[in-house]
Amino acid sequence: MSVTAATSPSVGSFHPCRRSTRPAALPRFRISVRSTAVSVTPLVTELRKDCATPLPLLRHVADAMAADMRAGLAVEGGSDLKMILSYVDSLPTGNEKGLFYALDLGGTNFRVLRVQLGGKEGRVIATEFDQVPIPKDLMFGTSEELFDFIASGLAKFAQNEGNKFHLPTGTKREIGFTFSFPVKQTSVDSGILIKWTKGFSVSGTAGRDVVACLNEAMERLGLDMRVSALVNDAVGTLAGARYWDDDVMVAIILGTGTNACYVERVDAIPKLQDHASSSGSTIINTEWGAFSKGLPLTEFDRDMDAASINPGEQIFEKTISGMYLGEIVRRVLLKMAQADELFGDSILEKLSTPFVLRTPDLCAMQQDTSDDLQDVGSILYNVAGVESNPSARKIVVEVCDTIVKRGGRLAGAGIVGILQKMEEDSKGVIFGKRTVVAMDGGLYENYPQYRTYLSEAVTELLGDDSAKNVVIEHSKDGSGIGAALLAAANSKYHSYDS
Ligand code: BGC
Repeated sequence: MSVTAATSPSVGSFHPCRRSTRPAALPRFRISVRSTAVSVTPLVTELRKDCATPLPLLRHVADAMAADMRAGLAVEGGSDLKMILSYVDSLPTGNEKGLFYALDLGGTNFRVLRVQLGGKEGRVIATEFDQVPIPKDLMFGTSEELFDFIASGLAKFAQNEGNKFHLPTGTKREIGFTFSFPVKQTSVDSGILIKWTKGFSVSGTAGRDVVACLNEAMERLGLDMRVSALVNDAVGTLAGARYWDDDVMVAIILGTGTNACYVERVDAIPKLQDHASSSGSTIINTEWGAFSKGLPLTEFDRDMDAASINPGEQIFEKTISGMYLGEIVRRVLLKMAQADELFGDSILEKLSTPFVLRTPDLCAMQQDTSDDLQDVGSILYNVAGVESNPSARKIVVEVCDTIVKRGGRLAGAGIVGILQKMEEDSKGVIFGKRTVVAMDGGLYENYPQYRTYLSEAVTELLGDDSAKNVVIEHSKDGSGIGAALLAAANSKYHSYDS
């Protein structure tokens, strides 16, 4: 099966910072920028101060996260955190068998996957997937256009099912639909889109059941498949990770956007009425991207938020996730260029373009260990259209590091907030034994400095004793297999009780 390369046209994607594919080097003779280190220093110092995340601040953020979780569980609309019920009450057991599909819409790429599950013995017998970038115009088009595009991608993929995959006669192909936007679930296989995030602004979907939107598009194409689970990517990640490891209790997405979900006891959810769960627990999708308390924000964050398509919303997401880190840095650099001629007399047209600098560019610049920061110079020149001398480049790297450090450490504080809340409810359940936090998303996967800052903050907050029981681990399969497993667990045709 071919895997289309993920060359997304959009601002939201996050690809690995591969040094081998770095832009062509800036010719040395073009560098004629005078030294600017001295005049820019006050701005850098101020930025560092404004973005600082000392331990007391992190502790405050973790506490506020835990308090917001409780408030969101108490009553609908009780806090910034929606604390959405996923209707996933039982996680994969390993007994799941058969052919299942997963469809993943959540960032700038759309993924389809099929998996043949072989139960406890066979586990994952075969998988195939395909990935296509979502054309930018569809992110701003109509609901019908977007779902038609998805359904036709799915139809094409389903046509080429090889002989490693077997569908029992008399059954339909079942799909786990990962839809990574805030959805008010109405059952395990239906849910209403609350609003778009991550730069999507598709008309006609908010307020509608997204499974119905997909079903209608499949009908228009004559594609006879059945959605048996609608899941958020964080929930899919939790399910996928739990399939391999029983100690997984929390899943975090750090990619274009961000989110967290965790296993909650049903009796700790006051707003829950008439929901019976045989396991006594359920998965809560926190939608933590909407968290906003106690964050160290700067004028650059505020300006970016004001210019966004969702001002005042998703503030945590705008501070810590891959879609926004590059844009915050761009805004800082533009100010330094305008106020203090950081890039000499370079023309600032490109650097003035929103989202021209992407988080993978920051990542690539931070991997440059050369004395004169040649890679940084090339990226600044090729991506942002500015010339730089080594001291300006040093400042650029410092700005990247400041913004990335703030993001990683705040993400770490958020994780501790969740663990803290769970531990407060049942002493020993988290810190008294091994607890795994499953991580997924390109930002976490591909940005080493971000990962380090995140785990340092977790250890600082928890202290060595508790921290040694908490394992923060990149999830092996991501949300795709997890969604397929949840489709299996909720299949109309099979039952997998252990
Ligand atoms: C969405 C979440 C999603 C997260 C990560 C956020 O913008 O609101 O539903 O899980 O991005 O993809």
